[in-house]
Amino acid sequence: MKPTIAIIGSGSTGSAFATRLAQQAYRLLLFDQDSSKAQTLAKNLLQTGHSVDVEATDCKVTACWEADVLILAVSESAKKAVAEQIQQVATCKLVINLATLAGPDQATNTHAGEELQQWLPNSKLVHVWIAPSKNGTLLDTAFITGQHEEAIATVADLLTVSTLTPIVVEDWSA
Ligand SMILES: NC(=O)c1ccc[n+]([C@@H]2O[C@H](COP(=O)([O-])OP(=O)(O)OC[C@H]3O[C@@H](n4cnc5c(N)ncnc54)[C@H](OP(=O)(O)O)[C@@H]3O)[C@@H](O)[C@H]2O)c1
Repeated sequence: MKPTIAIIGSGSTGSAFATRLAQQAYRLLLFDQDSSKAQTLAKNLLQTGHSVDVEATDCKVTACWEADVLILAVSESAKKAVAEQIQQVATCKLVINLATLAGPDQATNTHAGEELQQWLPNSKLVHVWIAPSKNGTLLDTAFITGQHEEAIATVADLLTVSTLTPIVVEDWSA
């Protein structure tokens, strides 16, 4: 059975991921601090096809409790607060962090990942960064890194079915 996925943040990246995953018939639970954004995204996705199973929710903790996989699609500055709020319900779960990077060679971003793991100590954290083209649009190659091999393999599968090409790197500076 396909996992249920909670996406926290319905901005540009969260929406792009939700669109890809909805097309693959994953059950999605969408949350944004502005509930109208999650509701609009859910409505738009539901209009795209019969097999789409998407719900906007007004409680991120409930969404993360119900879901098998969690995706953090909020700004870097919001991640600590979100992590602290979902920490209990994210125990043992796969958490996908949509990472902030100007390029996979920027070692400073490794620290952001380490901090997030401290805030989510019992979660299987995997960082995903999608390569942008020169004009800033996202390409189809996704770099992924993390400490849990099984979680990385799951994320690689998830990205592949979402028509992204995953490339596993040891760390962002690799
Ligand atoms: N190449 C890549 O892989 C790539 C590209 C772009 C972004 N990213 C990363 O993806 C993440 C999201 O970026 P984005 O461009 O999608 O940002 P965005 O468009 O600003 O979307 C983030 C959404 O999350 C909402 N939010 C903020 N704090 C929240 C909270 N505490 N709880 C729930 N929702 C909250 C924001 O609401 P407000 O607007 O009200 O703040 C906004 O709707 C960032 O870490 C970014 O660095 C990666």
